[in-house]
Amino acid sequence: MAKLLHLSCSPRPASESSALARVFLDGFRKARPDWDIDVVDIWRDRMPEFEGPIVAAKYARMKAQAFDEAQAASFAEAERMALRFSLAERVLISTPMWNFGIPYKLKQWFDIIVQPGLTFRFDPSQGYLPLLKDRPTLVILASGSDFSTGMNRGRIDMATPYLREILRFIGVSNVRFVPFGPTTGPQAPIEAARESARRRLAAMAASF
Ligand SMILES: Cc1cc2nc3c(=O)[nH]c(=O)nc-3n(C[C@H](O)[C@H](O)[C@H](O)COP(=O)(O)O)c2cc1C
Repeated sequence: MAKLLHLSCSPRPASESSALARVFLDGFRKARPDWDIDVVDIWRDRMPEFEGPIVAAKYARMKAQAFDEAQAASFAEAERMALRFSLAERVLISTPMWNFGIPYKLKQWFDIIVQPGLTFRFDPSQGYLPLLKDRPTLVILASGSDFSTGMNRGRIDMATPYLREILRFIGVSNVRFVPFGPTTGPQAPIEAARESARRRLAAMAASF
């Protein structure tokens, strides 16, 4: 069954990014009723801390050395997580902006799946090469301030360029961003930004 993977990255029950993800997914389900929607709750699903055998496994891979038992077991976990991603024909990431970047749990997820021989490889003559196939990917990014121009009062949005680059590095270049901000402060600009994001997402869902 065709699958959309949703990485849900806000820990808040009243999350704005999750609410917009629901708007998108309602439209997506109508357009593709036979698709499976696989949700990774980045805060609830088990993810190994990136220390001990899993970090040693990464270095072993980089040096083309064999794994010991603990490294093999922890790398198998990374493989399962990467496989869940690589089997999805569509990807939705809904996330807050935290301190101009992404929540650390989402960074941890990337640290686990971005591994040599798993999602990228290095070739001495060609450099770094992605191992995943491209697929339509949507990022919903909620921020307290309006970062739709990439900046706000001299502060830079580093979540968007980071996500674009890390996804491109593993092979996913077909990425669209729907920013939603402000989510805090006076109500009128919040409502206007929310309405605009909802409209865009409803339209995108029909042909994603
Ligand atoms: C730890 C933390 C850091 C934050 N950093 C930023 C920030 O750098 N820029 C910003 O505009 N909003 C920031 N915010 C506000 C959130 O981006 C905003 O509340 C957003 O709606 C959160 O997404 P959510 O509603 O899906 O949880 C931060 C919030 C938290 C909890």
